[in-house]
Amino acid sequence: MPTLNPESILAVSQTDPSLADKASALAAQLGLPLYKSGENAPALLLTLTPSQLELRQTGKGAEGPLFVDFIGGAIEYRRRQTTSRKEAVARAVGLKGGTRPVVLDLTAGLGRDSFTLASLGCMVQMVERSPVVAALLADAIKRARQKPALAEIMARLHLLVGDSLQILRTWQGERPEAIYIDPMYPHRSKSALVKKGMRLIRLLVGDDQDSDALLSAALAIASRRVVVKRPRLAPALTGPAPNFTLSGKNSRFDVYLI
Ligand SMILES: C[S@@+](CC[C@H](N)C(=O)[O-])C[C@H]1O[C@@H](n2cnc3c(N)ncnc32)[C@H](O)[C@@H]1O
Repeated sequence: MPTLNPESILAVSQTDPSLADKASALAAQLGLPLYKSGENAPALLLTLTPSQLELRQTGKGAEGPLFVDFIGGAIEYRRRQTTSRKEAVARAVGLKGGTRPVVLDLTAGLGRDSFTLASLGCMVQMVERSPVVAALLADAIKRARQKPALAEIMARLHLLVGDSLQILRTWQGERPEAIYIDPMYPHRSKSALVKKGMRLIRLLVGDDQDSDALLSAALAIASRRVVVKRPRLAPALTGPAPNFTLSGKNSRFDVYLI
């Protein structure tokens, strides 16, 4: 899928006039146009509502709205059900007994994998290069930080906006024990394997073309292992062969030991 220029398909809007100033500030921060009702709507609207920031698709058959949520619904259910034994992602990054590796997630996306790992006790640094996806994540983090029940988990979850490749190439701090990579995989359109939220994100960010380079840079920085999430039958990234893989229903985790 070709990468679309966010400015040509996306504008910032709000659902309540009291949010107009906030919407203008967000549009300026992201370098996006501000949508005024009555104008032709672009394909996507990043919409401020009184409760949250949402990505809305416009037009016929629109999907959405998409927002990141660490509080209610599916992710809360998953948090309650989550045990390290059950979660393949947890076993893949090396959670075992009392071991809780520090994780650098190079492809934060909607933060689901990072949140699972933070719920299980890992310190997680997420990196996201799309400023729009990062804005959705930051909004969810702000809301979740207001919930005392999530305080411990949210204290372990941090977001950095930027390109992971750049960040790894200029890395100076302590080496993270585990580095996690879940790139956008070029699925055929409308594949049932692509979750609804991810389809909207794909529209915005396109496919990730730098995954092989990310793996190579990650292998130079991680102190214990690098984990790459792939669709179950997809080839491994170009580079050394993984030491082992863990398979889930639709996806697979390729684990590279340092
Ligand atoms: C498939 S999604 C990740 C989904 C995530 N694991 C989750 O649980 O929600 C991939 C995300 O990684 C981001 N990404 C890809 N390459 C990146 C890079 N080099 N630096 C920062 N972010 C990157 C994309 O913008 C996209 O939002």
